[in-house]
Parts: sequence; structure tokens; C-alpha cells
Amino acid sequence: MRLTPLTSVASVLWTGYLTLASPTSKSADLASYILKEGQRSVLGITENLGGKGSKAPGTAAGLFIASPNTANPDYYYTWTRDSALTIKCLIDLFESSGWGYPITHQELEADIRNYISAQAVLQNVSNPSGTLKDGSGLGEPKFEIDLNPFTGSWGRPQRDGPALRATAMITYADWLISHGQGSEASEIMWPIISNDLAYVGQYWNNTGFDLWEEVDGSSFFTLAVQHRALVQGANLAKKLGKSCPACASQAPQILCFLQSFWNGKYITANINLETSRSGIDLNTVLGSIHTFDPEAACDDSTFQPCSARALANHKVYVDSFRSIYKINAGIAKGSAANVGRYPEDVYQGGIHGKYLATLAAAEMLYDALYQWNKIGKLDVTETSLAFFGDFDASVRKGSYSAHSQTFKTLTSAIRTYADGFLTLVQEYTPSNGSLAEQYNRNTSVPLSANDLTWSYASFVTAVQRRASNVPASWGEKSANVVPTTCSASPVTGTYSAVASAFPTSTSCVPATNVVPITFYLIENTFYGENVYMTGNISALGNWNTDNGFPLTANLYTETDNLWFGSVEFISAGTPFEYKYYKFEPNGTVIWESGENRVYVAPTGCPIQPNQHDVWRS
Ligand SMILES: *[C@@H]1O[C@H](CO)[C@@H](O)[C@H](O)[C@H]1NC(C)=O
Ligand SMILES: *[C@@H]1O[C@H](CO)[C@@H](O)[C@H](O)[C@H]1NC(C)=O
Ligand SMILES: *[C@@H]1O[C@H](CO)[C@@H](O)[C@H](O)[C@H]1NC(C)=O
Ligand SMILES: *[C@@H]1O[C@H](CO)[C@@H](O)[C@H](O)[C@H]1NC(C)=O
Ligand SMILES: *[C@@H]1O[C@H](CO)[C@@H](O)[C@H](O)[C@H]1NC(C)=O
Ligand SMILES: *[C@@H]1O[C@H](CO)[C@@H](O)[C@H](O)[C@H]1NC(C)=O
Repeated sequence: MRLTPLTSVASVLWTGYLTLASPTSKSADLASYILKEGQRSVLGITENLGGKGSKAPGTAAGLFIASPNTANPDYYYTWTRDSALTIKCLIDLFESSGWGYPITHQELEADIRNYISAQAVLQNVSNPSGTLKDGSGLGEPKFEIDLNPFTGSWGRPQRDGPALRATAMITYADWLISHGQGSEASEIMWPIISNDLAYVGQYWNNTGFDLWEEVDGSSFFTLAVQHRALVQGANLAKKLGKSCPACASQAPQILCFLQSFWNGKYITANINLETSRSGIDLNTVLGSIHTFDPEAACDDSTFQPCSARALANHKVYVDSFRSIYKINAGIAKGSAANVGRYPEDVYQGGIHGKYLATLAAAEMLYDALYQWNKIGKLDVTETSLAFFGDFDASVRKGSYSAHSQTFKTLTSAIRTYADGFLTLVQEYTPSNGSLAEQYNRNTSVPLSANDLTWSYASFVTAVQRRASNVPASWGEKSANVVPTTCSASPVTGTYSAVASAFPTSTSCVPATNVVPITFYLIENTFYGENVYMTGNISALGNWNTDNGFPLTANLYTETDNLWFGSVEFISAGTPFEYKYYKFEPNGTVIWESGENRVYVAPTGCPIQPNQHDVWRS
């Protein structure tokens, strides 16, 4: 079920495209966009991964660059937070049974292991936040791509990184345990994970910079993910027979402190701050998403996506952007709007729509829909009444079972609302599918860092939730009771450097038998013209134009004249000649000009090579 043979991935992928060609309705159009952009996003993530990605030259294996952009802004660094969220997305994909992405399970697992090995090294890199000796160095937000510390001035420390990284690693460790590989979880992973857990247990009650790296205080997002990490840590320690003294004792205290972020109307993003803002912030929606537990009830204490608090907060957050973005002009409440980080934002010359924000707004709603359907009812309370009122002005407080008309009406409208956010992202996605960091709030042109790793990860998680593919439970059910009084007595942790993690030989499994090679060809064609390739090997039809290999135009657009196809069954190391040709509607064959092209199927890494060509007329 989980293991997809290497060679079948491409065929699954292209079949998925074919069945969705020629969309006939708006919803088919969205479905087709979701498929293509999901595949583009997984590629976008792996292109930014060191040791294999074409956009991350010079980057150590297993490190994600935040973006290939090296100026204005320079994101050619690795961030602990962005990387942890991205690898968590890949780990969830790896563990899910549904497939259709242009990457094999084998490659994904190698990526996950490389990530873990690289993080083990980073944990011990002394940096401006401190060292591993007392844990302080773990709060450093970003590093150079060659595993060196970043020594420039920055908003540091940021205390969400170790928690998010622990959560990602624990998710994979749990998978290993349930697949008979518990010794790897115990011997290789636990020493790395326990450093991060110790950090959370020791420093959660200290201020730090929030995820936008601008303000120093106590951040909702940071504390929410810290709570989750310690709950997961306690469960993992129990399974492995290890000890995590801080996990069990600190988790309830963090949960207690978290309650003070609820101000009765929405979740305040930051407290214990020098400066004041409204506190309306994507920070809080991301907090709900990244602590979503598919087994949980609609609990207010943990701000679950379907909780009254999270829904009220979602409305306040989205509504705060309605009047300030020109691109939101004329969009009514209850219809999706473009959103950004927070309404007072001035980064990059003004407030802009952020892909990951618009995607997060959708994802939280898909999470909530999953929970209502699973629980079999939906509650409208004083707190959530205004949220639901946007979809049905006559709705009253009450509990509505899944069989009721009210449940059906509301959930259907909320799904349409969630899809509306995806449709906005679709509208602002350039034809090449690249997701940048932001898009201009007035003109919708992509802005700042291009190919942002986190934007791609956000796309994948949002559309996975839309398809009801949810991550494993983190144990919320046993960790949602708030202590009657809050106290803070953090535990001093013990830390030790890990000399070696997973063997690096897993970084790329060299091809030994057959290699799928993806060919991309740029050629302007008209409707009815079809592009093929042939050459001197049987996989390409031995120069017989009746047996050539057909390329597909499923990613072809007016501005990006792309034809492509994945040729399988070429033996590693085989040299071959090839050429492109077109079949005209009347059956005539038109060859490209010039000498035969020559290619040698690689024997080493990477194992899924690409070749980019331009038609020679
Ligand atoms: C520490 O925890 C206490 C108790 O919850 C809380 O009142 C205080 O604001 C916290 N301080 C920081 C910096 O986290
Ligand atoms: C994709 O298109 C956008 C917008 O036109 C452009 O800024 C970006 O550089 C393109 N990316 C690639 C990889 O071609
Ligand atoms: C967007 O439009 C507003 C109002 O016209 C203007 O003040 C602002 O400078 C524009 N921002 C950008 C980034 O173009
Ligand atoms: C960790 O870093 C310290 C200080 O730089 C160094 O002495 C030690 O050898 C490192 N340990 C490992 C396992 O890399
Ligand atoms: C195909 O062409 C390549 C490159 O010219 C050559 O090395 C190879 O021997 C040819 N293969 C066959 C089966 O003729
Ligand atoms: C077939 O169509 C091509 C243009 O697509 C044209 O150049 C060619 O003359 C046509 N051949 C016949 C036999 O009609």
C-alpha cells in the first residue's frame, strides 16, 4: 500500500492529469489546478533541498533553503521553522496511502533521513543564540546552507523551531516503531529528539521572537506547537522506555498559559510585548492548523480548528483584510478574501497577500469540516455564532447533528468558502506554477522571494486536508485539560551532541537497473498538433514514428509552451540518440531540424533525471 514501485509513479502521475484534461466547469478547473499545482509544489520543495535539488546548489544534504532568492530578500539560508514544517508535510505524505506526486516513497524516506541527520549536526553548531551545552543554541532561527552559523544581526532566539522539529521527527519515529524499526527510533532518533524536547521544557516561559521575526514576546503559535511537542514527546518516551522529565510536567503548564491568549473575541498573537498591535495575526490560524488533531473534539482549550474560539478567530482574522486590500474590493463577508500576516504589516512596502496565509485560511476550514463529519455534529455557540451567521443569517445557537438540514447547509457553504481561498491562490499563481512568498495587494503580481519552500508546503497540506488526508493524531485527547491555576517552573534540561545519525549512504540510492527520465520540450504548437519523440532504443520506438513516445500538453499554457513526458524502462548507463517530431492533424510528420540529440541514462545520482530541450525549427 505504502510502497509504490519506482517505475509506476510516473504513470500514476500522468494518468491523473489525463482524466482531468479539458475542464468543463469551474469546479473541474479547480480540481485540475489542485492536481497540477500539488505536483508542482512537491517538485518545488525537492528542488530547494540540499544534496539533490537543482535550485539549492552548495547546500548540505538534508537542508532546505527557504527560497532560491539571494537578494531582496536574501533567503538563501536554512530556517529551522520553515524546514521543520516542510519536512512534516513530506513525512505525512510518506505515511499516507494516497499517491500521485512526482516522487517515490524511497526518495521521500531518503529525504526525511537526510533532514534528520543534518539537524543532528545543526543542533551542535555554536551560534549567536548560544551553544548546545545549555540548550540555548537550539533557539537559533537560521543557519548558513553549509551548516555554518549565521552571524549577522537577527531577531533571535525563536523558540518554535525545536518544538516543530521535535514534532516532525517524532512523527517519523512513531512510524518506524509501528513498522518494526523501533530500534532506529530508539538508538538514532531519540538522542536528537530529546535535545529539542529538553529545550522546550527549559525555555518555554522565556520570551523570544515570533515566527515573523519582528517582535520579542510570548507568541501563541510558539506556545501551541511547544505544547503539542511535549505531549508527543511524553508519548514517545513511554513507548521507547526513555525518560523526558519535562514533557509530562511542562505540557499542562504551557496549556494553562495558552488560555490567556484568548481575549473573548479572538486569539491574540503575542503577549508580554513591548509594542502594541491588535494581535490579529495569521500566527493564530497557523497555531490551530499545526496543532490540529483528527481524533480531537472541537476543544476550545487546544484551539482545535472546529472549536468555537478558532472559528471566531478565523472570522476576525479574514475580515481584518477585507477593507485594506484593493484586490478584496467587492468581496462580501462569508466569501474568501486575500489575507496576509497581520493587518498592520509593512514588510516589503505594504501589506500583501501571502500565499501561505490564504492557504492556511482554507486549510483550517478543511480541518474543521473533517472534524465535524467525524464527530457527526456541529455546535453553534455564542462565540461562534457570528462565524456561522456569514453562511446562514438565520442560524441559531444549538447543536446540529450530521443528519440535520442545518448541518448540511452550513458545511456545504463552508466548504465552498474554503475552496474560495484556493481559487484566489489559483488566480494569483503565475502560469509556470511557481509560488513566491507574496503577491502585490493591489495588482496581484508575485512579490519578494520566489519559489518559497514554505509556500509549496502550505499548498500541499491544504489540498491534502481538502481530500480528507489527515496527519496522525498527536494525542490531544489526553492533553486538553487545563490546570486550575497556572504556574511556571521550567525544568533545566540536559543536552548532548549526536555524533552520527542515519548513514549518509541513504542520501541517494544509485540507479542500477532502469531509470525513468523526464523530458521537457518547449515548442509553440496549435490545437491538433501532437509532439512525440523517438530514438535508437526500443523505449523510444527505434526511430519508427508510428511507435514514438508521446509527450503530453497538460502543463502547456499560452506563455509556457511546455510538452513533457516520463520515459521509463531505459537501462541505467545506456547511451542513446533521440529527436522530437510533430504529428500534424492531417497525419503528416514534421521533424525538428539538426543533428540527433544524444543522452546517457545516468547510473549515479539523482535517480530521476530531467532533460530540458527547446524545439529546433
Ligand atoms: C510564564 O508563565 C506564567 C504563568 O503562566 C505567565 O503568567 C507568564 O506571562 C509567562 N511568561 C513568559 C515570558 O512566558
Ligand atoms: C515563474 O513566473 C513568475 C512570474 O512571471 C516569475 O517571476 C518566475 O521567475 C518564474 N519562475 C520560473 C522558475 O521560471
Ligand atoms: C496599493 O494601493 C494603495 C492605494 O492606492 C497605495 O497607497 C499603495 O502604495 C499601493 N501599494 C502597493 C504595494 O502597490
Ligand atoms: C559539538 O561541538 C563541540 C563544540 O564545538 C565540539 O567540541 C564537539 O566535538 C561536537 N560534538 C560532535 C559530536 O560533533
Ligand atoms: C544509440 O546511439 C548511441 C549514441 O550514438 C550509441 O552509443 C548506441 O550504441 C546506439 N544504440 C544502438 C542500440 O544502436
Ligand atoms: C498537412 O498539414 C500541414 C500543416 O499542418 C501542411 O503543411 C501540409 O501541407 C499538409 N499536408 C497534406 C498532404 O495535406
